[in-house]
Amino acid sequence: MITESDISLAVPDDAVAIAALSRRVIEHGLEWRWTAPRLLASMADADTNVVVARRGTDLLGFAVMKYGEEEAHLLLLATQPRCRRQGVGSTLLAWLEGTLRVAGIRTVKLETRSGNAGAQAFYRHHGFVEINRRSGYYQGVEDAVSYLKQLGLPGA
Ligand SMILES: CC(C)(COP(=O)(O)OP(=O)(O)OC[C@H]1O[C@@H](n2cnc3c(N)ncnc32)[C@H](O)[C@@H]1OP(=O)(O)O)[C@@H](O)C(=O)NCCC(=O)NCCS
Repeated sequence: MITESDISLAVPDDAVAIAALSRRVIEHGLEWRWTAPRLLASMADADTNVVVARRGTDLLGFAVMKYGEEEAHLLLLATQPRCRRQGVGSTLLAWLEGTLRVAGIRTVKLETRSGNAGAQAFYRHHGFVEINRRSGYYQGVEDAVSYLKQLGLPGA
């Protein structure tokens, strides 16, 4: 079982593995944008968290979230295919939502590929609602579906 104690901020040595996972399970069929240098820049950006789920040296999954004044944008989230449906994605998301509550940010948005039914089911399971569709958002190759979640107030 995975818990939030298995989640931590990524370190520079994680960049290559995260980039490879993004390319394989998120950016397949698209030009590779989330390369190791971009991830390193995200790790160095004070308004962005790159987080990993790790057991020992095994990277189980990762997420990238950018924080604004009023809302956050979940840019990427993925788990290794071999450990799907074991709560890894949910634990990454719960950890990030914890940071939003501490920061007083109540809104989180994201886009996912329109053909990615599994991710959309995952986000709906976690209370995200579809807000719109964006034609050709992914390099003109695929539409995006945008989702939004309003977090409850602390203690609610
Ligand atoms: C979407 C993704 C992150 C989910 O990660 P995960 O670790 O498997 O998620 P969890 O085990 O925490 O799933 C929690 C719940 O979400 C729902 N869910 C997750 N994956 C699902 C799928 N493929 N189909 C339907 N429902 C799904 C289920 O309700 C699941 O609970 P259950 O297993 O008890 O039925 C993972 O499938 C993934 O990395 N996909 C490729 C990358 C991607 O699409 N990222 C999102 C867009 S950036």
